[in-house]
Amino acid sequence: MAAGVKPAQPPDQYGVAGHPVAHSWSPFIHGMFAKECGQNLVYRLYDIEPDDFRGEALRLLTSGVKGMNVTLPHKQAAAELVNTLTPRAARAQAVNTIALQPDNSLLGDNTDGVGLMRDLTGNLGLNIAGSRILILGAGGATRGILEPLIEAGPAAVVIANRTLSRAQTLAAAFADIYAIDACEFKAVAGPPYDLILNATSASLQGHMPELPPGLVSEESVCYDLAYSKGHTPFTLWAKSLYAARVCKGWGMLVEQAAESFFIWRGVRPHTHSVLEALTRKT
Ligand code: ATR
Repeated sequence: MAAGVKPAQPPDQYGVAGHPVAHSWSPFIHGMFAKECGQNLVYRLYDIEPDDFRGEALRLLTSGVKGMNVTLPHKQAAAELVNTLTPRAARAQAVNTIALQPDNSLLGDNTDGVGLMRDLTGNLGLNIAGSRILILGAGGATRGILEPLIEAGPAAVVIANRTLSRAQTLAAAFADIYAIDACEFKAVAGPPYDLILNATSASLQGHMPELPPGLVSEESVCYDLAYSKGHTPFTLWAKSLYAARVCKGWGMLVEQAAESFFIWRGVRPHTHSVLEALTRKT
């Protein structure tokens, strides 16, 4: 090698752990971010069975992987794995971003809530303050988005869930910051909501929970946190009721990824071109 020519640094390693994970768009998204921001990194898929998550994640994070996104079904296990939780991850009791720290400890964060908020308020231009919000589902996805939604000052938040006790548990967990109404799907009361968020995994099973009439008006925005090609059962339901806007979670996906990228690299990527590229592909 000629004097003064430095050897090329190997790229820093990142990836997403899930099961299944082959369908993930995260390598595409982070690849575009890295190119745009001039960051030397690779981003891989780690398909890890639930029983192996702890051992395998620790093995990767002690053998060169600098950060990891975590998706279903490992978000709660990741919260138990890390040494420190950010306040928002502690509130959600779920981690979607692990960052290896300079002292080799593991920091767990949750960027889902901020990702949803950036899509709703930044990309879609919605004003949450004073709005009436209905959230379908009371699982990990809902837990991750509740705090930033509440901080935006809605007039009412209702959580409807198939299993009433889970909605009630979630309402109780946030009772110190907001009076959330919890109910079953059949008990959701009108008038129509400004924003309806589908945070159930029912769309993934091709199913739409049965809801009473009168919840959607021509001013309602209906947003499915799930993303897929074409319509989901929820977006079809919303369209059939002439909702003002019907959206899927592509924007949330890209925005939560951008926040993870910022945590790892200290650089904030632009999201619009990535969102456009995804929209063209899907
Ligand atoms: P996630 O982390 O994606 O939120 P989860 O914690 O398993 O996953 O929660 C899934 C949510 O989707 C729950 O609210 C679940 O309802 P239950 O609490 O009654 O299980 C809801 N869900 C899943 N399948 C559903 C279906 N077919 N109809 C209605 N709700 C469903």
